[in-house]
Amino acid sequence: MSGFTPKAWPRKLRSQEWYGGTSRDVIYHRGWMKNQGYPHDLFDGRPVIGILNTWSDMTPCNGHLRELAEKVKAGVWEAGGFPMEVPVFSASENTFRPTAMMYRNLAALAIEETIRGQPMDGCVLLVGCDKTTPSLIMAAASVDLPSIVVTGGPMLNGYFRGERVGSGTHLWKFSEAVKAGEMTQEEFLEAEASMSRSSGTCNTMGTASTMASMAEALGMALSGNAAIPGVDSRRKVMAQLSGRRIVQMVKDDLKPSDIMTKEAFENAIRVNGAIGGSTNAVVHLLAMAGRCGIDLTLDDWDRCGREIPTIVNLMPSGEYLMEEFFYAGGLPVVIKMLSEAGKLHKDVLTVSGLTLWDEVKDVRNWNEDVIRPFDKALTQHGGIAVLRGNLAPKGCVLKPSAASEHLMKHRGRAVVFEDIDDYKAKINDENLDIDETCVMVMKNCGPRGYPGMAEVGNMGLPPKVLRKGITDMVRISDARMSGTAYGTVLLHTSPEAARGGPLAIVKNGDFIEIDVEARRVHLDISDEEMQRRLADWRPNVEPPASGYARMFHDHVEGADTGADFDFLKGCRGSAVGKDSH
Ligand code: FES
Repeated sequence: MSGFTPKAWPRKLRSQEWYGGTSRDVIYHRGWMKNQGYPHDLFDGRPVIGILNTWSDMTPCNGHLRELAEKVKAGVWEAGGFPMEVPVFSASENTFRPTAMMYRNLAALAIEETIRGQPMDGCVLLVGCDKTTPSLIMAAASVDLPSIVVTGGPMLNGYFRGERVGSGTHLWKFSEAVKAGEMTQEEFLEAEASMSRSSGTCNTMGTASTMASMAEALGMALSGNAAIPGVDSRRKVMAQLSGRRIVQMVKDDLKPSDIMTKEAFENAIRVNGAIGGSTNAVVHLLAMAGRCGIDLTLDDWDRCGREIPTIVNLMPSGEYLMEEFFYAGGLPVVIKMLSEAGKLHKDVLTVSGLTLWDEVKDVRNWNEDVIRPFDKALTQHGGIAVLRGNLAPKGCVLKPSAASEHLMKHRGRAVVFEDIDDYKAKINDENLDIDETCVMVMKNCGPRGYPGMAEVGNMGLPPKVLRKGITDMVRISDARMSGTAYGTVLLHTSPEAARGGPLAIVKNGDFIEIDVEARRVHLDISDEEMQRRLADWRPNVEPPASGYARMFHDHVEGADTGADFDFLKGCRGSAVGKDSH
């Protein structure tokens, strides 16, 4: 069992440091709150719950969270708490430039202080789009007040001319089809209208669905939360139940540090393999673990994921979408199957106060084509593979379930793009010296190089290769890729090129070998040549003069440790400094 012992209730909560008593300072804090019409007895020591809402009109994936916040509030009221909705930094994956990833740490920093500096006893993390989920969990872990995750849920299935259309996945597919001359621009525009047909997050097993699943697998969300569609009435029920639950979590003092243990992270990594989850989960879980003071490494990713089959048949690895995953039983079915196979730590604690196993032991699989039995898995080796070698001494990652079997062991001539602009300038050039046997290499797209480590690692193929009917080539970069993308794509190469990692010194015409089974990536030049080129390398990224971009450049760590800021790791607790009034 988990060993968690609830604290005695009633007791004085931290919100009473602001609201309890008759001093001038308390009257200052409490009296101002009354301008919103709150009766005096709401400040009597009941749990004050901050509903941290990432709603924004400019984050369409989270555009419906105000409605859900009302349901969370209803649940908090019902359980005897005092809910307060707090708008927090929101970064949309599809809008924020240069990339939403550049703002994950800023969001985590701002939200950590938003929690700590205000009279909250517990938090509901109302999230959805890719970066909103990890940033709020990172913040909550660094403060360590009782917290529960409620995600907005995925969009309903898209359909175009009778075929399922998956968020992101079909954007890449249709765009390649246009380049290959198989689809007209007019058809592409027509398809656009079919891609996002309801409120919610990406409907594929992209990063948003992956991170919702990671929150549930970690035990930070109520069981079943991840897959309920954004517009399903049961999403509202989930929000209301979570509002009720956080009040009891505060009374029990059930904190993130009781839930997000090393075992919980190992569970999440294994679940990620089973769902064919996004490679972005690697950087986010490493960063989240860092906030919890847990030593999680890329080796843990490879070790825990290696023998995990991908059994969830969802795009981009498979055929279906989150709506069907929900109808099949959702993540609880996957957790049950992995637990019964002895792959998970069953006794870890969840926000419900029950163990992970207790939550799932009675669920059933309602569609064995969507959630496959182990012997009919999409791939037997679904976990994220971590490759190392002279080209990536600190590792790079590949998602086997989204890669091509025939390219898992490959040697090819490097075609090098110095950065994303160089790639864009050259890729459509019919005279580019490239064919399907080559290895596409892109530099300077890592955390410091881009900056922000954009999702550009799944470089589109050259049109002249696409016209041959080829759909995949080996690609290597220090970038990330969208969780909705696919291909034999090596990502997060560390150290990144902008820090002088070996990726920086690859030249056109070099040969590169990858062997996924052996977990090896190798630049076929002599050690002497490698050292000579590295000695000649000069930094080519100018630090920004000022502002957040400067802070990001100076403090962001490598992808191999989660790309968090060096000064934000660890838990700093909820204690706050002196009152200034
Ligand atoms: Fe926001 Fe996919 S872009 S969830």
